[in-house]
Amino acid sequence: MFLAFMYILQWILVLFFFIILFVMLVWMYSGITSKVPFISVPLSILPDIEKALDIQSDSVVYDLGCGDARVLRYLAKKYPSATFIGIENGVFPYYVAKTISWWNKKMGHGDNVQILRQDFFKHDLSKATHIFVYLYPQIMDDMLGKLEKELPPGARMVSATFKFTQKAPVAEIDLLRKKRQLARYLIAYEF
Ligand SMILES: C[S@@+](CC[C@H](N)C(=O)[O-])C[C@H]1O[C@@H](n2cnc3c(N)ncnc32)[C@H](O)[C@@H]1O
Repeated sequence: MFLAFMYILQWILVLFFFIILFVMLVWMYSGITSKVPFISVPLSILPDIEKALDIQSDSVVYDLGCGDARVLRYLAKKYPSATFIGIENGVFPYYVAKTISWWNKKMGHGDNVQILRQDFFKHDLSKATHIFVYLYPQIMDDMLGKLEKELPPGARMVSATFKFTQKAPVAEIDLLRKKRQLARYLIAYEF
């Protein structure tokens, strides 16, 4: 009996090891193929992001490079009639976002968040009223021309940490987090 138990346990551990290895390889592959690593904003600043975005019930809200889509899921609960679209090109974060979304639906907590596996540079943003990003300085500057061309007048954007070098913000919010912590500032823009 004991031997049978040990035998089954051994195979469970081997299986577990390969699952972890697979997840790590997919994560590493995502990191190598994307210019920006998958690092989620801390959960504690989600209320600050909500406040800075100033969403209305009919808003169309994008997270460009949505990672696990935590920002959109948080907002979608608060504004059930708004539209939320996350765009993510990394394999690992995309499947994490999709799996959480699938699980929520299975548990009966469906959400109004669409997650697309795409390069956001190739997505038409003309319907967006609000945009959230947590990217890198260079990619911010690379996307400015596209945003200026496609976003409707009045569209609001909030960036965690990073600024455009060629556009002035309408607000800079210091989240008063410790120096070593990530995402210490939110920067808001209007187009
Ligand atoms: C720092 S993470 C932020 C995740 C999420 N927005 C959050 O705040 O929790 C940046 C994400 O952007 C994604 N990304 C970078 N460039 C992208 C692109 N051109 N198209 C789609 N996703 C992109 C990366 O794969 C990464 O998951």
